[in-house]
Amino acid sequence: MNFDKQFKNYDQNAVTQKKVAKKLLTFIDKSKKYDTILELGCGTGIFTKTLCENLNFTHLDLNDIFNTQDFFSNISYRDFFVENMETLTIKNYSLIVSSSAFQWVENLENLIYKTSKNTSHLVFSIYSKGNLVEIFNHFGVSLDYKSTEEIYQILKKYYTFVEFQEDEFTLEFSTPLKALKHLKETGVTGFSSSNYSLTKSFKSTVLTYKVSYFSCKN
Ligand SMILES: C[S@@+](CC[C@H](N)C(=O)[O-])C[C@H]1O[C@@H](n2cnc3c(N)ncnc32)[C@H](O)[C@@H]1O
Repeated sequence: MNFDKQFKNYDQNAVTQKKVAKKLLTFIDKSKKYDTILELGCGTGIFTKTLCENLNFTHLDLNDIFNTQDFFSNISYRDFFVENMETLTIKNYSLIVSSSAFQWVENLENLIYKTSKNTSHLVFSIYSKGNLVEIFNHFGVSLDYKSTEEIYQILKKYYTFVEFQEDEFTLEFSTPLKALKHLKETGVTGFSSSNYSLTKSFKSTVLTYKVSYFSCKN
């Protein structure tokens, strides 16, 4: 994870994350009024902006492991918790949301359990098994992406109603190096500078993103 160094270029490169944020909003009932909302892993606010433009709420609290508050000068929020969401003490919320962040979590089940104790409505998007397969095939590195079914089985333990959808996006680049640069600028790193010859032999001009959306209610 390399977000802190890349946040300034993030918004112009986060093509997939923007599509995902837009789609995630369709899983939230826009006709309701929400008292309190918590967003986990808000980053530079791509999903936050969509949320603020479309939802009716009283208080919004934000969280990210890095202090990204400078990106939120035009957004009115109550609290910003700079903390690992896995150790964050979560209060009660009408709605907890997260877009494109839960794949970074070490213990997803613990996090899901914690949310279920503090909200009756969780909506999130997460990258899932097969995400960035081109990187795994060439560099042999990957986050521990779970399948939609695995995530669903965890959610069913803690939420009564779970809806989900899967999506696949491919991004095309003019050269393999541009594909790697794009990943670096969206916070994913750990492979491109580590081994020069391996980087040079990367041949794919395509990146495949696999994403799953979940809406969970109790
Ligand atoms: C791909 S970005 C998504 C940002 C934003 N939600 C969006 O839709 O563009 C993932 C974000 O999750 C944050 N993040 C990763 N692990 C985290 C953790 N354990 N606790 C809190 N934030 C975390 C990163 O710092 C980054 O801002």
